[in-house]
Amino acid sequence: MAQSIGGGEAELPEDVLARIRRARRVSVLTGAGISAESGIPTFRGAGGIWDKYDFRKLATPEGFREDPVLAWEWYRLRQREIWKARPNPAHETIAEMEMHFERFDVITQNIDGMHARAGSRNVIELHGNIWRARCVRDGTVIELDAPVEDIPPLCQCGSLLRPDVVWFGEQLPERALEIASEAASASDAMLVVGTSAVVHPAASLPLLTKKNGGLVVEMNLEETDLTPYADLSIFGPAGEVMPALWRRAAFPERFMTEHPIIANR
Ligand code: OAD
Repeated sequence: MAQSIGGGEAELPEDVLARIRRARRVSVLTGAGISAESGIPTFRGAGGIWDKYDFRKLATPEGFREDPVLAWEWYRLRQREIWKARPNPAHETIAEMEMHFERFDVITQNIDGMHARAGSRNVIELHGNIWRARCVRDGTVIELDAPVEDIPPLCQCGSLLRPDVVWFGEQLPERALEIASEAASASDAMLVVGTSAVVHPAASLPLLTKKNGGLVVEMNLEETDLTPYADLSIFGPAGEVMPALWRRAAFPERFMTEHPIIANR
């Protein structure tokens, strides 16, 4: 049954913690909200990217064809923003968790590369990565190790490079989606962190976990389209809620010593 609580460590229900503790296979699905506390803006909500910028010009193949310079100016701006940012405790907790389970998949809609920077090794990127560019003519992929300087960047063959990210109206990388769907279906638990859960197919992945009897725990500042389907929704900033959840799931004895009265409740 769906249950919603605030982010306080003491409120976390023991039955959910026990299921995470016992899980053999765990997946995490992340969205822009996990990087918000690193200073990277989200897409939706007050002050969100799509409030300020026109996605048609910046995040569609048609927009890019019309004005590649404008699109690249925006991606350069975002690269510079991400370049300065650092992974936060939510990314770090997820990287730490990977070592504790038989299988652990980090499925992300984010293109910022923060999970890898935090130390996660098994990251499935559904929407591409801002640190790669791709030749529009032959698909050659180029790794970028810093924000682009000259705009628009060109491939060695002289054709335009585009950001290697998924735009509106484009298919997700087939193999990544296949791996993510398999992970979601086979997971004993999925943690969904900082996504509005409105962009599909990513938003449907937790439902695969649920359909197969797995636990779905959502962490967000507010209710989302997933909230009615989640076993538990924890409302609070990911950088606080994620470490709190993991502390209590992984080290229950420590919590019981520090909070004997709450723990015995
Ligand atoms: P959104 O911007 O749609 O949603 C961000 C979510 O994070 C919202 O539900 C916020 O409430 C939540 N949030 C914000 N700050 C938070 C915090 N500190 N802790 C926890 N939650 C927080 O971002 P996505 O769901 O990732 O796609 O958006 C999905 C896709 O839509 C993106 O990958 C992008 C976008 O258009 C493409 O560009 C293809």
